[in-house]
Amino acid sequence: MTDLNRTTLSRSAILLTGKVAVVTGGGAGIGRGIAIAMAEFGADVAIIDIDGAAAAEIATLIRGKGQRAHVIVVDVTDRDAVRASIASTVETLGRLDILVNNVGGTRPIKLIDITDRQADRQIDLNLKSLVAATQAAARAMIDGGEGGSVINIASIESLRAAPSYSVYAACKAGMVSFTRTVALELAEHGIRVNAIAPDLVPTAHMATFAPGLVSDEGKAVQSRYIPLRRAGNLDDCAGAAVFLASAMADYITGVTISVDGGTWASSGWTRDDDGGWKLFG
Ligand SMILES: NC(=O)c1ccc[n+]([C@@H]2O[C@H](COP(=O)([O-])OP(=O)(O)OC[C@H]3O[C@@H](n4cnc5c(N)ncnc54)[C@H](O)[C@@H]3O)[C@@H](O)[C@H]2O)c1
Repeated sequence: MTDLNRTTLSRSAILLTGKVAVVTGGGAGIGRGIAIAMAEFGADVAIIDIDGAAAAEIATLIRGKGQRAHVIVVDVTDRDAVRASIASTVETLGRLDILVNNVGGTRPIKLIDITDRQADRQIDLNLKSLVAATQAAARAMIDGGEGGSVINIASIESLRAAPSYSVYAACKAGMVSFTRTVALELAEHGIRVNAIAPDLVPTAHMATFAPGLVSDEGKAVQSRYIPLRRAGNLDDCAGAAVFLASAMADYITGVTISVDGGTWASSGWTRDDDGGWKLFG
């Protein structure tokens, strides 16, 4: 008979010891934070990035934590190269347990102005790249026979409207839908598929073209509009990714976790000068 009072959770459930993770775009920004955190919690990490120098720098940091690192320099829009990268990870690091589909991004442009080429490029980068990487990783995880965890870095724009980001937001919404469906298809193999939806996370790359985001003035604006009074940072996203990759999340699949300081929940509510809340302020 099942003992309904039985509990077995221990602090080691958060560790990724013995696991192998692949992080696309692990050379910078949110992917960098995730790659380093995965190593901190015990995983060996392969970094797929178009920027070889940035990826090599992260690999050095990972090795400094006593973990193995593997650098693969490819453009994730090249699907054959992505499939080869997954194969090369299994060959070099011995297995695959965690895939983080992190590469993505955009610049603002209105639907009226976007060219076919720009739209195709956004779809290739933010949506199509997901399919080949997830399929190849799922096949490797099935071969490994021990399940796995796929984590897709979506965006708050997958949930709300995003003027000047229509194609990007549609791709991220597609990513969230893909997450739910693939979670069902892979459940029988013990492979969990989840997404993380960040809002604003100022990265080094972003700061080069939008320095206002990290200025005192920018922080004051963030404090007004973000319930937890600050923008996100690399650790916020990495913490959610480590959790989803770990045994702590063994019963979680098909969900999107908002890592946004409460902005999705606030949905039109803003702080007034007295620190209270008003609708459409
Ligand atoms: N930063 C934010 O505020 C924010 C908010 C919501 C969602 N996101 C999502 O988080 C993810 C990471 O964003 P970020 O801001 O950290 O990006 P970033 O630009 O700081 O870093 C992206 C990394 O991906 C690599 N990369 C870019 N194009 C590539 C390609 N074609 N092939 C291989 N590697 C490539 C870059 O070299 C870099 O290392 C994206 O999917 C983005 O849409 C970011």
